[in-house]
Amino acid sequence: MNLAELNKVALALVTPGKGILAADESSGTIKKRFDGIDVVSSEETRRDYREMLFRSSEAMTRNISGVILYDETIWQNARDGTPLVKIIEQSGAIPGIKVDEGTQALPNCSGELVTAGLDKLAERLKKYYERGARFAKWRAVINIDKDKIPSMTAIHVNAHALASYAALCQDAQIVPIVEPEVLMDGDHDIDRCYEVSQRVLNKTFQELRIQRVALEGMILKPNMAVPGKKSAKQASVEEVAEKTVRLLKHCVPAAVPGIAFLSGGQSDEDATAHLNAMNRIGGLPWHLTFSYGRALQAAPLKAWSGKAENVAAGQRAFTHRARMNSLASKGEWKADLEKKAA
Ligand code: 13P
Repeated sequence: MNLAELNKVALALVTPGKGILAADESSGTIKKRFDGIDVVSSEETRRDYREMLFRSSEAMTRNISGVILYDETIWQNARDGTPLVKIIEQSGAIPGIKVDEGTQALPNCSGELVTAGLDKLAERLKKYYERGARFAKWRAVINIDKDKIPSMTAIHVNAHALASYAALCQDAQIVPIVEPEVLMDGDHDIDRCYEVSQRVLNKTFQELRIQRVALEGMILKPNMAVPGKKSAKQASVEEVAEKTVRLLKHCVPAAVPGIAFLSGGQSDEDATAHLNAMNRIGGLPWHLTFSYGRALQAAPLKAWSGKAENVAAGQRAFTHRARMNSLASKGEWKADLEKKAA
């Protein structure tokens, strides 16, 4: 492992003013997104949609540091035959790859999940590196309720798998994005999310240490401390920012170069406002930025709606969200910038 090189890639991913585009929806998830705009999900429509995003040159060169791809996409070529990976590289962004194989039911723990994909991972990483991937992602999904879930078992097995994945990535000279996601589904309040996220992060870093993962060569992709979507007690932007920063200070070693949040079902503007408010608090040991899927793609997906004549509108919508989040990564976003663009 060349740690200096891994650290360089990790720092590049969290350069102030830039963040990560998560475009790694599995075939099942992208179908759900396309169903929402009445577009058939085929190899070709998925390619056209993603090509539209990756050819948004203003956003890609100024605001996007890296793109997380799905296995299908990393091997795909654009309409003119150029590999999509090359288009990303030419914009100056770094190609990345989702390497987990989704979740399955966790035995003996009703309602809980464990992420699969460690089998043959070392071989797959080698091929992804050759194709240009310099970072990877593995998502652990932690369900949450008011008292019983998550179990210690679910936290433990998911943290163990995250650390095994991260160690294999570093061995293959690929920066691991470690993503333990505590879901927003449910009616729990923000303090319950905080408490569960704290347990999850503590266990994750314990496992990372046990499996000798070099913290300087990784990125953490956590959820923010937020109330459940159905909670009767919603939280202000300031409360989310203050509690998320406190949570991270308690759990994340300063040796980690950067933290790139998932959006997890927050509205586009909430995801931006929360990131901005955290960066305004300042004085943190790590760079804080975005690694958004839905909060970057909902607007362009709708503007495109599967029609070639809407590509420019889709790119405009993507460019706007990328710019708003770029400003938030520096604490320079203001709500009226959204209104001006509307
Ligand atoms: P969301 O921002 O839509 O949560 O997606 C980010 C991601 O990569 C989830 O694994």
